[in-house]
Amino acid sequence: MKKLIIANWKLNPSTLKDAQALAASISVKAKNKVVLCPPTIYLSNIQYPNIGAQDCFWQEKGAFTGQVSALQLKDLKIKYCIIGHSERRAVGDTDEMVNAKAKALLAQNIIPVICIGFGTTVEHDDLEVTDILKSQLDVDLAGVDKSKVIVAYEPVWAIGTGKNATSEHVEKISIFIKTKYGVPIVLYGGSANAANAKEFLEQQNVGGLLVGGASLNATDFNKIINL
Ligand code: 13P
Repeated sequence: MKKLIIANWKLNPSTLKDAQALAASISVKAKNKVVLCPPTIYLSNIQYPNIGAQDCFWQEKGAFTGQVSALQLKDLKIKYCIIGHSERRAVGDTDEMVNAKAKALLAQNIIPVICIGFGTTVEHDDLEVTDILKSQLDVDLAGVDKSKVIVAYEPVWAIGTGKNATSEHVEKISIFIKTKYGVPIVLYGGSANAANAKEFLEQQNVGGLLVGGASLNATDFNKIINL
């Protein structure tokens, strides 16, 4: 079955030329469905079938210096938007903000990719992790049509560390999120790469991957999207 692989380029690369070259080197006929999320500043200049943003603001327009609205993303034909990433939560994004962003995106028919997992540690067992995720999702998804969102489980300790969660743990967490909230697609993110992606994609309830570092290497990323 086709899975969904989302590339989160974060604050990379440093020039539009390099961003365009990276996008051009990613297969458009991959086995899995692929979404590229470049930095906001490049969004209108990247060609790829599915493009996503890395964040948005919840207000449509007005005196909000530096912000980008869901309405503006829609105008650029953006189909997906990551919200609640742990790197955003680390600089102040709260679950209430994530909730407002999810509603603003859905109002423009953009699919929110809601990241959870901030605050989990490698020492937490499955039950403690689900408690933390529940506290995030109860607020993130309040009043939101859960059938229209994607949730990405990204244990913060696994992000950019080279230490990934086990596929069995991720499968259990995915089942929890799908059954408790009725979310159709749960992704995993956290040091996913060409060597470990297959074991996650083989899990029945893991809908795909949110890939950071490995999405900046076209060879590695093309391998992942063709698994
Ligand atoms: P890495 O794949 O670099 O660990 O990043 C994961 C991530 O944060 C994707 O959103």
